[in-house]
Amino acid sequence: MDARRAEEDQVDRYRFRLGQFELVPIVVGGMGVDISTSDLALAASRLGGVGHISDAMVQHVSDRRYETHYTKAKSEKHRQTRDGFDKTTVKFDLEHLRQSQLNHVRHTMDRKQGAGAVFINVMEKLTMGAPGDTLKARLEGAMDGGIDGITLSAGLHIGSLKLIEQHPRFRDVKIGPIVSSVRALKIFLKSASRLNRLPDYVIVEGPLAGGHLGFGDDWREYDLRNIVAEVLEFLREEQLDIPVVPAGGIFTGTDAASYLAMGAAAVQVATRFTITNECGLPARVKQEYARAEEADLVVSGVSPTGYPIRLLSYSPCFGANIKPQCEAFGYLLSREGTCAYLDAYEATPVDDKGHKLPVQGKVCLCYHFSKFNCYTCGHYVYRLKDTTHRLPDGRFQLLTAEHVFRDYQFSTGHRVAMPESALSPAVSL
Ligand SMILES: Cc1cc2nc3c(=O)[nH]c(=O)nc-3n(C[C@H](O)[C@H](O)[C@H](O)COP(=O)(O)O)c2cc1C
Repeated sequence: MDARRAEEDQVDRYRFRLGQFELVPIVVGGMGVDISTSDLALAASRLGGVGHISDAMVQHVSDRRYETHYTKAKSEKHRQTRDGFDKTTVKFDLEHLRQSQLNHVRHTMDRKQGAGAVFINVMEKLTMGAPGDTLKARLEGAMDGGIDGITLSAGLHIGSLKLIEQHPRFRDVKIGPIVSSVRALKIFLKSASRLNRLPDYVIVEGPLAGGHLGFGDDWREYDLRNIVAEVLEFLREEQLDIPVVPAGGIFTGTDAASYLAMGAAAVQVATRFTITNECGLPARVKQEYARAEEADLVVSGVSPTGYPIRLLSYSPCFGANIKPQCEAFGYLLSREGTCAYLDAYEATPVDDKGHKLPVQGKVCLCYHFSKFNCYTCGHYVYRLKDTTHRLPDGRFQLLTAEHVFRDYQFSTGHRVAMPESALSPAVSL
C-alpha cells in the first residue's frame, strides 16, 4: 500500500473472524486489578469488538463489586502468620477462588449485549501459593461463568491447557496466549499441539505496552512491527491459520489499520481507555494518567514477579513500606510461600524510633494494586492529553469508551477525534 493510501486506511474496512464471531478488529486489553472493568469490556463488546475483564486479585474484586467476603475469610483463617515471615501455610481456598471467578464472569456475561465478545485476561505469574491448582480454579470458574474467551498472559502457559482439557468447554471457549516473540509462541504451540488444541488467536505484545513486559532491560531494542512480521512469517511457513493481534503502543486508528494491512487480524489497545468513564481507576488517578509527560515514564524492576513493569514515576507505590498483606491477598506467593517483596521487607531496617524505613527495590503489588497506587501505563500515556480537552480548573475531561473505540474504528490520517467539550455540569468529569 502506498503511503497516501495507508494514511487514509481505516480499521472499519477490516473484520476479525474468530469462530462464530465476526468482530470489529479492536480488542480492549485486560488491565488488572479491575482497571478494565466489566463496564469497559461490555462497552467494547456492545460496539462489536472484544473487551477483556481481568482476573487479577479476583477475590478482592468480587468482594468490592458483589458483596462477598472471601478476602476477610482468608485473612482470618491465616491470622496466626500475620506477624511473621513464614507464609508456607498461606493458601487460597480453591472453592472460594472458583466461586469468586464465577461471580465476576457471570455478573459480566449476564449484562452482555451486541455482537462482540468478552474475554478474560488470566496471568500465570499470579502463583497464589499453589500455581497449578489456583490457575485451574480460575480457568474453570471463567468457563463455568460463560466467558467467550480466555487470554493467557504473564507467562509461557506451558501447562495451562492441560489443566482444563477435561472441561466441557475446552474446545468451544476461545483461547489465546500473549507472547512477545516467535520463540515464546513456539513453546506454547508445542504444548498445545500435544492436546490437539491450537490457540484461536495469538496476541503479540511489544515493548511499549502497559503492565508487565515480556522483555528485559533491553526492551528498547525491540520493535512491535518486526516481531509481528516474524510471527506472521512463522505462521505462514507452518501453514497455521491463527489470527495475530498486535498490542503495545498502537495509539491511533491509522496505527491500528497499518497492522491490519500487514496481515494482523485485530489490534489490542489499552492505554487510551484509561481516561474513560468506564475504566476502573479512581477519577483522581485518571487525572494522573492524563497529565503524564514522557519524562515521567519508568520501566522498573519493582514488581516481585520478576518482570519489568512500566509505571509513572510519581506512582505512590514507590518508596512505601507497607507490611506484606499475604494473609488477605498473597496473589504472588510461590508454592513455597515466598515473594520478593516479603524478602525485601524483611531485609529493610527500622529507624531509631523502631519505624520501618522505606522498602527499596520491590513494592507490595497486591496492596498497591488494590489501592490503585501503581500507575502502570503504555509508553504513549503522555499523548493522552492530546486526546481530550483541558477544563478551566486544569482537569482533563474524561471520555466515553464508545468515543475512544469509535475513534480507533473510524479515524484516518493519524487524527484523533476530540470529544464534544463538556463544560455543562450534567457531564460526568
Ligand atoms: C493500566 C494497565 C494495566 C494493564 N494490566 C495488564 C494485566 O493485568 N495483564 C496483562 O496481560 N496486560 C495488562 N496490560 C497490558 C494491556 O492489556 C495491553 O496489551 C497493552 O497495554 C496495549 O498497549 P497500549 O496500552 O499501548 O495500547 C495493562 C495495560 C495498562 C495500560
